[in-house]
Amino acid sequence: MADPTDKMENIINLCKRRGFVFPSSDIYGGFNGFFDYGPLGVELKNNIKQAWWQDFVHRRDDIVGLDSSIIHHPTTWKASGHIENFTDPLVDCKESKMRYRADQLFFAPVRVAGETIGYISVLEDETMSAKAEEMANEMKRKLAKQGALEPLTLKDYTEAKPEEHALIPSPATGKPGSLTPPRSFNMMFQTYVGAMQDASATAYLRPETAQGIFINFKNVVDTGRVKLPFGIAQIGKAFRNEINPRNFIFRSREFEQMEIEYFIAPSADWQTAHQGWIEGCLAWFESIGIPRAKLSLYPHPTEKLAHYSKGTTDIMFEFPFGVQELQGVAARGDFDLTQHSDVSGTKLDWFDEAAKARFIPHVIEPSVGVDRVFLALLTTAYHEDEVEGEKRIVLRLPARVAPFKAAVFPLLKNKPALVERAEALYRRLKKRLNVFYDESGNIGRRYRRQDEIGTPFGITIDFDTIEKDAGVTVRNRDTLEQVRMTEDEVVRFLDEQVNG
Ligand code: GAP
Repeated sequence: MADPTDKMENIINLCKRRGFVFPSSDIYGGFNGFFDYGPLGVELKNNIKQAWWQDFVHRRDDIVGLDSSIIHHPTTWKASGHIENFTDPLVDCKESKMRYRADQLFFAPVRVAGETIGYISVLEDETMSAKAEEMANEMKRKLAKQGALEPLTLKDYTEAKPEEHALIPSPATGKPGSLTPPRSFNMMFQTYVGAMQDASATAYLRPETAQGIFINFKNVVDTGRVKLPFGIAQIGKAFRNEINPRNFIFRSREFEQMEIEYFIAPSADWQTAHQGWIEGCLAWFESIGIPRAKLSLYPHPTEKLAHYSKGTTDIMFEFPFGVQELQGVAARGDFDLTQHSDVSGTKLDWFDEAAKARFIPHVIEPSVGVDRVFLALLTTAYHEDEVEGEKRIVLRLPARVAPFKAAVFPLLKNKPALVERAEALYRRLKKRLNVFYDESGNIGRRYRRQDEIGTPFGITIDFDTIEKDAGVTVRNRDTLEQVRMTEDEVVRFLDEQVNG
């Protein structure tokens, strides 16, 4: 299974076939950029969120939680800079009516022996350089030009000079002259609040959960408990009208974020705090089953920083479709609290008892998409191998995040003594953990069905269990090893595997 496209196809098929992720509004032909999480998907997603909340909120003394509304007072987005700056550069093809993100559309002049003979354009992907080379050679051949093709320098469309817009071919038609100059497109979804549908009633679906945290800074500080440095964490939906949603749930229009705003004193060394959060996030990814070898860091060049950022490093993950952002860790300075203080007229500051001084704290923001963690886990866990001469698909998900922690099987379904004992164990385990019961088909098939959805342990009740009181067998999904344990030991064993 070397081809990464095949791997993504296989994962998308598995997601639909076994109820992890469905295209949204499937019966109406789907709705681009939206997805629905099925019975197994919602379990995996909830487990990711629960692990994050446990590790960053419950197990720490310096971070508290929040669940703000999705729609804020519209002025929030004016103060935060989103109305003005939360834009992507958009380019239209007037002929095909296709729309592209200008920074994902690449072009190059084709030069042969010092002469420009035309332009080529390609859409950003792993193979774009090879495609561009092929197109340039084809152009040279068609125009029967002699001489060496000069190396191509691909640039994105935002870098095109105005006189080049008419020369660059549309990726849809292959012909020049139909692409518009790039223009800014605001990615926030608008809605109306109340009965009037006019400009005064316009509101926005939040494009990030972060602003809900900043506008609640004073509420959280005033209600006690926190001492600088401290963080406020929030998990929730975010909405972006992405021009080009793609790569399954990687870039969608409705997704979930897990964000922390970690407030520090202005005098604190923000670079050290920033680096500490980067390392902490890398360690967390590893702890939930995303290998360090698939993670890398991308510090943003200063000239490409977002309007609020003093420094941002993305934690990148090696997805089957390329190395892409999994998480952003930004140092936002005091930008947001200052803006909201100025625009609202409410002081969002901190009183330092020791120094008897007031100041606006600075902030470090680790922000990660639940859906991207979901996809990183699935693409890491997905394997195809062979067991007892049969091909199997196996999701090697760690027990902490796996939808079901174990499946309980009576060896045979037509032996009431086996079934009764298996059902009793299933009921007992279900009080503590999400477990599955299955009595249909041969035992090998039942194992295989669970392997495919990532259930780490298969517990079988056989004749030795009931006749010799010899305990049950516990089969490990990854090593295939089977060990016997008493039912009490199974309860303790699973608890340890899931909760550590
Ligand atoms: N508050 C900062 C912020 O929102 P961001 O880099 O725009 O920063 C943070 O987003 C994270 O949210 C990303 O690293 C990614 O994991 C996730 N994310 C952003 N856009 C997404 C989309 N369209 N689909 C899925 N996840 C997305």
